[in-house]
Amino acid sequence: SNGGTVMRTPLIAANWKMHKTTGEAARYGQELLEELARRQVSVSASEQGQPGQVAVVVCPPFTALAALGGVLRGSPVALGAQNMHWETSGAYTGEIAAPMLLDLGCRYVILGHSERRQMGETDEQVHRKVRAAAAAGLIPIVCVGERIEERRAGETEAVVTRQVRAAFQHLDAAAVARAVIAYEPVWAIGTGEYASPEEANRVIGLIRATLAGMLGGETAAAVRILYGGSVKPDNIGPFMAQPEIDGALVGGASLDAKAFADIIEQAEVNAA
Ligand code: 13P
Repeated sequence: SNGGTVMRTPLIAANWKMHKTTGEAARYGQELLEELARRQVSVSASEQGQPGQVAVVVCPPFTALAALGGVLRGSPVALGAQNMHWETSGAYTGEIAAPMLLDLGCRYVILGHSERRQMGETDEQVHRKVRAAAAAGLIPIVCVGERIEERRAGETEAVVTRQVRAAFQHLDAAAVARAVIAYEPVWAIGTGEYASPEEANRVIGLIRATLAGMLGGETAAAVRILYGGSVKPDNIGPFMAQPEIDGALVGGASLDAKAFADIIEQAEVNAA
């Protein structure tokens, strides 16, 4: 999308959640690269691509990062993780640190997904993780979004604004400019229901205005803000046509390489 003078390269991100073994991940990687080549989709190897390009990242479980990373190495498709701890090392049994993700070739990390917030992850913890990711040079994909009861209570704006402020407080403009935000209404995740493109565009515009209030319009205009929640090949087009929406974070439909390639192709064609 074009926000005034700033050109943002669309980003299509796959969140596999708790799916796929190492063998399945490697096969998927091969198939995805083949499908993208066959469709002649122009994937940017960097966050700032050429006009007409899209950036792509796949976020498998930790256990499949090495296998998928091996297949994607040398391709423009980036590797990302689904979570990390805010400390760089230490006595944190079962946790994974940013240097370990960098070591496996990760460029992105999803933080604050609603499925983690549901298990008790707080705004404060998300903030610590965002700060740690930025310090390590990983690009955070920070998830925000209201639950159905919050939406019914008319609290969507308040919830999303609070989550954005908490995640990015005390960060400098350069770190925030590189970050990605995913607006994922919780009621639209895995349900087949999705926000209307106009409604998603409105909330994403509000997110950008919140960032502008914190760090200025230039920084806010650089941040890529995605929509997530039941994105499929046949509904991505209208989302991409919205001026504030810079891409999608895709769960279920990203598990099939052909469907995910379809989404990427449609994103490239429909980018506003
Ligand atoms: P679905 O695409 O399965 O609705 O999941 C969305 C999501 O949570 C991506 O992070």
